[in-house]
Amino acid sequence: MPSERLDDRISEILFSREAIEHRVADLGARISADYSESGLARDAEKRPLILVGILRGALVFLADLARAISVPAEYDLISVSSYGSGTVPGAVRLVMDLDRPIEGRDLLIVEDIIDTGYTIQYLKRNFAARNPASIRTCTLVDKAARREVAVDIDYSGFTLDEDEFIVGYGMDYAELYRNLPYIGVLKPEYIA
Ligand code: PRP
Repeated sequence: MPSERLDDRISEILFSREAIEHRVADLGARISADYSESGLARDAEKRPLILVGILRGALVFLADLARAISVPAEYDLISVSSYGSGTVPGAVRLVMDLDRPIEGRDLLIVEDIIDTGYTIQYLKRNFAARNPASIRTCTLVDKAARREVAVDIDYSGFTLDEDEFIVGYGMDYAELYRNLPYIGVLKPEYIA
């Protein structure tokens, strides 16, 4: 009989609720400084930064990061899905697009995790074609060990050098575990 408590299905907590809170606060402070004092904003009309969260994994991180940013910022959400194995490797499909123009705007793409890099590569190219003023990227977890395409990451919370199956804080396995407040390793018996 599988355990009903999500905590019991986790073998190890990699990043605790407190560690995530601290890291998100740091990222928010850096982003705020960069887009104000350091002058990274490029929008000629000086409109607010747009945080673009990638559904569904980035939702929890976006919600916390947005509140850790102290400069004017909007947020929007898009949804992408990767094609399953057996098709073109790394092919990404846009499921739900932004619903407003981004031409001339400063964008910060917000991801929960960058793994092979295909999703962020696709998004940067897709957004670049719409002529924003700037595009930068922020991920909570950089799973560097799994990278297949080179991508520049401007802000990264944690780097994972091991290829562990992690869940929580927005990240799922078969849509479960997103509501765990920490990031942990799923016990193998819960992986089908
Ligand atoms: C995860 C994550 C990124 C993507 C990264 O999304 O949120 O969008 O994978 O992987 P990549 O670097 O190998 O492209 P997932 O497809 O699991 O969907 P979800 O956000 O709905 O959980």
